[in-house]
Amino acid sequence: MAGGIGSRFWPMSTQKFPKQFQDILGVGRTMIQQTYDRISKLIPKEHIFVITNKEYVALSQQQLPEIPEENIVGEPLMKNTAACNLYMANKIAEINPDATMIVLPADHLILKEDVFLEKVELAFDLASKHDYLVTLGITPTRPDTGYGYIQFVEKKGSEYFKVKTFTEKPILEIAQNFLESGDFLWNAGIFIWNIKSIHHAFEMYLPEMMQHFMACEYNSENENSCIETIYPKVQKISIDNGILEKAKNVYVIPAILGWSDLGTWTSVYENTDKDENGNAVKLKHLLTYNSKGNIIRLKNNNKAVIIDGLENYIVVDTDKALLICPRDNDQLIKDYVLDLKSFK
Ligand code: GDD
Ligand code: MG
Repeated sequence: MAGGIGSRFWPMSTQKFPKQFQDILGVGRTMIQQTYDRISKLIPKEHIFVITNKEYVALSQQQLPEIPEENIVGEPLMKNTAACNLYMANKIAEINPDATMIVLPADHLILKEDVFLEKVELAFDLASKHDYLVTLGITPTRPDTGYGYIQFVEKKGSEYFKVKTFTEKPILEIAQNFLESGDFLWNAGIFIWNIKSIHHAFEMYLPEMMQHFMACEYNSENENSCIETIYPKVQKISIDNGILEKAKNVYVIPAILGWSDLGTWTSVYENTDKDENGNAVKLKHLLTYNSKGNIIRLKNNNKAVIIDGLENYIVVDTDKALLICPRDNDQLIKDYVLDLKSFK
């Protein structure tokens, strides 16, 4: 899945050039390329698909020349992740109705690749044999309101658990309670299911969407025009709100992956080197006084910067925009960007 615009990551991530197509951590591969590198160790490239907005099809092809061109699928509108999951499941069903698929966000950092591959193999094993919707679960480290929270039924000695409750993006107070209880995992947003199970879930929980998508013939000449006709009618909802929160057959595999959704400035802050005052800055000409816990990114690294008395802030400067915001408010950047659109 590579169709988001990463607006919590503005102004580095923009509608024209979203974060999944950028080398955010400076490691030489973009986020989507890293996602491909990781999963291609398990899945042949002919079986790897990218689903993104049609605006990013060319960019995806450019960055992933290994993948057959027809496997890069463009959506006419941004409808969030339920629609793109159903679209993709329908295309795969046409090739093999018994297939088991893994759904991966294109913007995650996973440091422990061997653990990831091992857990994914277990997930494939479970999802190919059972009517399970499988997700990977991460031990939460902070009351982040940008994630899904999973409560599960503990079973001694098992490597996977039945999910009791799934709460997508709770408010801070609830996230805090979940964290303190020690009973919850974060949803990593990586899903594994067989085509029949996910179709069944859509029939149960998003039947209207299922109806719309049934009108099209997949992998046919008419697919594109049919998709163009149905998309405006399709509900805009995430797979988490639409399916995972409601389904009764969700299972979680806890996994220590060195995982991070590089979705916010705080997550980048946590995953980059910091100076002795905890400032994540990579600038040639920087002087800091009484300042700590900041993340500062400038497009022009040659600019001289002086900060005095700044604590726990995000400062990002590009050609077109300057953002200055407390780190604690990083989830609000999405709203700021919306406000900016109406302001223009
Ligand atoms: N094709 C397509 N179309 N892709 C999309 C769309 C869309 O309309 N919207 C988002 N995506 C892609 C994004 O590019 C990203 O790779 C992935 O789908 C997930 O979307 P996000 O917008 O990043 O979701 P999130 O981070 O708020 O929440 C999800 O991930 C969290 C963990 O990172 C949920 O699954 C949470 O429960 C989870 O904790
Ligand atoms: Mg995300």
